[in-house]
Amino acid sequence: MTEEMTLNITEELVLHALRAVKDPDLHKDIVTLNMIRDVAICGGIVSFRFVLTTPACPVRDQLKFEAEKAVMSIPGVERVEAKMEAEVPKAKGNIDKAALEGIKHIIAVSSGKGGVGKSTVSVNLAVSLALMGAKVGIVDTDIYGPNVPIMMGGNDSPAVRNDKLVPPVYHGVKTMSVGLLNPGDKAIVWRGPMLHSAVSQFLRQVEWGELDYLVVDMPPGTGDVQLSLAQMVAVAGAVLVTTPQEVALSDVRKAYNMFEQLQVPVLGIVENMSYFECPNDGNKYFIFGNGGGEALADRYEVAFLGGIPISINIREGGDMGIPIVISQPDSPQAKAFTHVAQNVAAQVSIQAIKSNKALPVLNLK
Ligand SMILES: Nc1ncnc2c1ncn2[C@@H]1O[C@H](COP(=O)(O)OP(=O)(O)OP(=O)(O)O)[C@@H](O)[C@H]1O
Ligand SMILES: [Mg+2]
Repeated sequence: MTEEMTLNITEELVLHALRAVKDPDLHKDIVTLNMIRDVAICGGIVSFRFVLTTPACPVRDQLKFEAEKAVMSIPGVERVEAKMEAEVPKAKGNIDKAALEGIKHIIAVSSGKGGVGKSTVSVNLAVSLALMGAKVGIVDTDIYGPNVPIMMGGNDSPAVRNDKLVPPVYHGVKTMSVGLLNPGDKAIVWRGPMLHSAVSQFLRQVEWGELDYLVVDMPPGTGDVQLSLAQMVAVAGAVLVTTPQEVALSDVRKAYNMFEQLQVPVLGIVENMSYFECPNDGNKYFIFGNGGGEALADRYEVAFLGGIPISINIREGGDMGIPIVISQPDSPQAKAFTHVAQNVAAQVSIQAIKSNKALPVLNLK
């Protein structure tokens, strides 16, 4: 390469080349999305920071590859260094209550029916996002049957600081549940207004600090807690969990309709207990039928966030308080949860970008 050509590389040229790379989920180019920062050119070496909208970006490697390839195609460029980072964008007007300023996105995990795996999905989703580098909290709004402490493996009574509860941290996730306030088997009787105030306290009177995602494990059904949450704060979106059987699917339809009425976007559908993978022959057995969750997602034009196999490991992980994404991160079951977490994060970014009509655009000098 001649010196003259090398000198011709400019920031404008680099950004122009990078405009050819589009984020497949956000449907815009990475320069318009303000993902490229601090372009530096030193001889034939070009470096920049590539700031994704979530550390759990499912297409991180693909975008890095495409960006580097695009810049390499500029004559004179010898090497490209894209430093991959993430900054979860805050949706404008997403959370309007002052006490929740530090929380960027609230994700409600819900279903119409009980026992389909909401808590299991919530816990593994929260821990996966934290493992990928996000700041995460989980709140258990199942006041009657709080399972989150057992599944997260903790039972510390939260400390109180400045009139707020300090959430204990398990597996990198700030955790709050009525089960931590009232450990043991004693049942509490809650009435409607008390439920509302319990949800309110868990959102406002907990020292959550800065969070990228707060995962809310919802109780079964389409009742008071869902209503309270949607009235109190703007929820980034709901993840609907279903099993493949027709009954569970018809219940998830009710949940879908409820969130639509509450104007909470549905981020997509997770099909839990999708199939059994035989450890001996590796074959997948679709015990409850195949493709129900995907068909439902198609019908409502929402994302299919992934299928989770039924497995003893997942159940044991829940009972022992060590989520499978921690205990066996390389297992197919853990990978299924990681895949779901990446898809959820991508859908949250899509909603955030949609709600921020005017995106900050990089200043092109
Ligand atoms: N993919 C799976 N494979 C095996 N067991 C699972 C799986 N998902 C959930 N379970 C088990 O099924 C039981 C119910 O799951 P979970 O508590 O997560 O459901 P839920 O929808 O939160 O229930 P509830 O409506 O009572 O809150 C638990 O014992 C859990 O460990
Ligand atoms: Mg539950």
